[in-house]
Amino acid sequence: MRRCGIDPVTPFAIDCPVQIAFGAGSAAALPDFVQHPVIFVQGSSGAASDPVLAMLGDVAQVIRCAGEPSVASINAALDALDGIAVQTVVACGGGSVLDTGKVLAVLAGSGMRLTEDFGQIDPALLERRANVRLIALPTTAGTGAEVTKNAVLDVPSLGTKLSIRGRALFPDHALVDPDLMAGAPRSVALHAGLDAVTQLIEAHTSVVATPFTRALTAQALPEALGALRTVVTGDVAGWPAMAWASLASGVALANGGLGAAHGLAAVLGARLGAPHGALCGRLLVPVMRANAGARGVEHCAAEVAAVFAPVENGDALSGLAAWIDAQGLPRLADFGATGDGLPELARLGSVASSSQKNAVPLSIETYEAILKAAL
Ligand SMILES: [Fe+2]
Repeated sequence: MRRCGIDPVTPFAIDCPVQIAFGAGSAAALPDFVQHPVIFVQGSSGAASDPVLAMLGDVAQVIRCAGEPSVASINAALDALDGIAVQTVVACGGGSVLDTGKVLAVLAGSGMRLTEDFGQIDPALLERRANVRLIALPTTAGTGAEVTKNAVLDVPSLGTKLSIRGRALFPDHALVDPDLMAGAPRSVALHAGLDAVTQLIEAHTSVVATPFTRALTAQALPEALGALRTVVTGDVAGWPAMAWASLASGVALANGGLGAAHGLAAVLGARLGAPHGALCGRLLVPVMRANAGARGVEHCAAEVAAVFAPVENGDALSGLAAWIDAQGLPRLADFGATGDGLPELARLGSVASSSQKNAVPLSIETYEAILKAAL
């Protein structure tokens, strides 16, 4: 039996107040949870979310998210909601849409507009949302944002992404329906799937992982690895497992933290404007190699090797690294990163919040080596 490194004596808490419905067809229950006026948040294509919008009938306002949320995009959406006594926010889309919905549910009706100093937000507002119900329906299998209490926003003046955190950001309901995900373009399926895999591995190896989070990640990681291979080929049979892997990763990271790949991705995403999942996928193997020997890393590497057979004379992660390259996942240089900029990116990545929970403390030189390996 492989050991997962569970320590049964360390005290821990479990925090997941979201009512979750999982499975094909679970989105059909949406109208049961809605009180009007309702606003609907969706992505720019609408391909997956338009049928969900059609279930609602009368919608007071539709907010379209063109990209990852920022202070400006949230304030523009709040302006559009002025004069609407919002009772329900339905967010149907990828992580950016769900994060936008979370912030709107907290701030709608408050009269507040965001500044780049999130410390100015009334803590009481972030801990208890006033009368606005939030329902999240993910259309990508990756972020797990439907079960987390933070929203990631681009903060251009700081050159990074920062989270707004608080219990008020937990959705009331998450309807996790694999049928909403099955039409994702191949690149979205790849990026989101790599995000879910990275979240499972980083949550599993995090220094604040718990028996609860490790039970989730240990079960879901092999499911995720197998499903990722399947869904990028266009085979819809993998979507239920991918959807579960994403949901499990969200519950696990909310209760157990992440690691250096997410710390660096937060910095790179803001600096390069690159998709979060693509960055996570590009950073995952170099970070796991840097974490070699830390608790849980060997277990995850063995699970990776069981699905992605190592290349000749390669380590346990070499098969996954080769598969990622074969999928055409961009390298950091493809997003505009250069060798000259790596020391500063390494410094910023080392102090990012996710990095503080990495499996093992890493030096700035190691962060730079990780970036070089992904360049
Ligand atoms: Fe992520």
